[in-house]
Amino acid sequence: MCHKNYFYKIIYILVSLHVVKSNRSFTVDYENNCFLKDGKPFRYVSGSMHYFRVPPALWEDRMMKMKAAGLNALQTYIEWSRHEPEPDTYIFEDDYDLISYIQTAAKVGLLVILRPGPFIDAEREMGGLPYWLLKVNPDMKLRTSDKDYLFYVDRWFDILFPKLKPLLYVNGGPIIALQVENEYGSYSACDFKYTTHLRNLYLKHFDQNVVLFTTDGSSSSDLVCGKINGVFATIDFGSGVNVSDAFHNLRLHQSKGPLVNSEYYPGWLDHWSEPHANVNSESVCDTLDQILAMNASVNIYMFHGGTSFGFYNGANMGTVYQPCPTSYDYDAPLSEAGDPTPKYFAMRKVIGKYLPLPSVPVPSPSPKMDLGSFTMNIYSTLWNYLKLNKFYISKYPLSFEEMNHGYGFAVYTTTVTFRTTDPVVLNVPGLRDRGYVYINNTLQGILSRSENIYSLPIMIKPNQNITILVENQGRICFGNDINDRKGIIQNVTLGSSVILTDWTIYPLSFKSKDVMNYLRSSSINSDQCNNCVPGFYMSLFKIPDSSGYPYDTFLKLNGWHKGIAFLNEYNLGRYWPIVGPQVTLYAPSTYFQSNNEWNSIALFELEYAPCDDSSSCTISFVKDPILNGTTPN
Ligand SMILES: *[C@@H]1O[C@H](CO)[C@@H](O)[C@H](O)[C@H]1NC(C)=O
Ligand SMILES: *[C@@H]1O[C@H](CO)[C@@H](O)[C@H](O)[C@H]1NC(C)=O
Repeated sequence: MCHKNYFYKIIYILVSLHVVKSNRSFTVDYENNCFLKDGKPFRYVSGSMHYFRVPPALWEDRMMKMKAAGLNALQTYIEWSRHEPEPDTYIFEDDYDLISYIQTAAKVGLLVILRPGPFIDAEREMGGLPYWLLKVNPDMKLRTSDKDYLFYVDRWFDILFPKLKPLLYVNGGPIIALQVENEYGSYSACDFKYTTHLRNLYLKHFDQNVVLFTTDGSSSSDLVCGKINGVFATIDFGSGVNVSDAFHNLRLHQSKGPLVNSEYYPGWLDHWSEPHANVNSESVCDTLDQILAMNASVNIYMFHGGTSFGFYNGANMGTVYQPCPTSYDYDAPLSEAGDPTPKYFAMRKVIGKYLPLPSVPVPSPSPKMDLGSFTMNIYSTLWNYLKLNKFYISKYPLSFEEMNHGYGFAVYTTTVTFRTTDPVVLNVPGLRDRGYVYINNTLQGILSRSENIYSLPIMIKPNQNITILVENQGRICFGNDINDRKGIIQNVTLGSSVILTDWTIYPLSFKSKDVMNYLRSSSINSDQCNNCVPGFYMSLFKIPDSSGYPYDTFLKLNGWHKGIAFLNEYNLGRYWPIVGPQVTLYAPSTYFQSNNEWNSIALFELEYAPCDDSSSCTISFVKDPILNGTTPN
């Protein structure tokens, strides 16, 4: 009897698995201009949030808030560069636990739309491509059918895609759609061999079990190189655009099928030195209403922007080089700290006209903590830190890539052995991106790619050292300049023609754990130090033992000029309040130690420490962010 029961049970399980499987489907119904979910007409209202810009402990909180706004799907890019930081070395844990991110969305009740690229832009370092591609070949034709490039793309997708497969909607997971490449129509290469190769690679792994789509700008010309045969096309645009014109342009290339705006912009991105984006909420709601009234599906980019912690922000190349700041607030409906803004409630109202709003409570802002000010102490100059660092010796300068060095800084130093004119011009035409020039450790001036300043008159005597501290401010993430090597990538000359040789080069990755270990094992440097920058400053503190603490807060850097901030084991990112617009850095609650344990806040300050007077040598943690500070004229 028993065995027989088991037998029927097994048959029953097999049958029900089969039923479950065949019940779940997600497809494009071209004839009826809609998606079909389980055979029924469906449209999505989705929001973008990038797992790599939000601490994992906060993913679920943010997703719940998206759901409460009426969204039924979550969209994210997948960042190849951080999943494969060095060739054939893969990370899928912690901040990069993509699988758990997708499972969290499923748990919250959101469908998932993924954008694996491989190129993603996203205002990320090199548009999400690994820096080491430029080590393999500095002239690699990225985003084309270049066979070296395709070798690494194929290898990466062969690792990634099998992990996604069990999470497809048809397999019981939340993933309904996968994007192929990213706004490829805006890239000059227009290589159909490449996009066809990608499509076939997706099909090899996923067959017809998930909707494949492309996203391009909303002018008809963007779709010419962006559309891929056999792949569903969508477009992107922001508020104030004539919606019917935009979708008409899509129709010129795809006469039937649901209309989709895959990046509807409720805000916009920032660059250092340029005013903070501020997109009018009423206009955002008006255009959203028009999109939804056309029965279109939409993804709001970004619904929650988050933060580019560490060194992973990208940069644009307009008429000048424009690095992106640490905050990716994006003027989005959920602020950088995950708080609902007035835009959140206004957009929720519009969404509620078209989709049922769930009966979950609308969020309110999370509490913030004001910890007051802490005095910073000098622990080490950069010059002392260098003594512990590995270095390269090379006749000519090496790029970051040649040193297997992806991100952060490098120090290039050499001794001038000959007599020069007085003054003499130092030329660093291959500077990427910002260089502090020292003679015998005394600052002479700053070179800057953003400002097109590549040379500097100096006075130097034989046997003095020239040292250039170079910052990678972020590889270009959009357009045709993405082969953006870092460091010093051409020869350095003194005067009109003498090439400087015999360099010692220190790559500085400033991994936050290494920096913290170094500082915690150092003691406060009480020597009179009249030249402490560039240097490391630190303060140890405890947070009040109040109930609920720690809360989120914002690091304020009154009087400091430019550098990197580390909170415990975390790199909070770059600060540069003297050019704005970002003045404070987001410090999430989850990065603090509670229970009466010590916290460390450390700065690597490049330019100026306000420490002539100890009362001004402070940082503070405040309740309110400042993202719209004064920028240069
Ligand atoms: C959009 O443009 C079309 C013409 O291309 C025009 O008829 C229509 O009124 C415009 N819509 C809005 C909202 O401006
Ligand atoms: C939207 O869909 C509804 C229901 O299918 C239909 O009645 C209506 O005409 C559609 N509207 C537009 C603008 O296509």
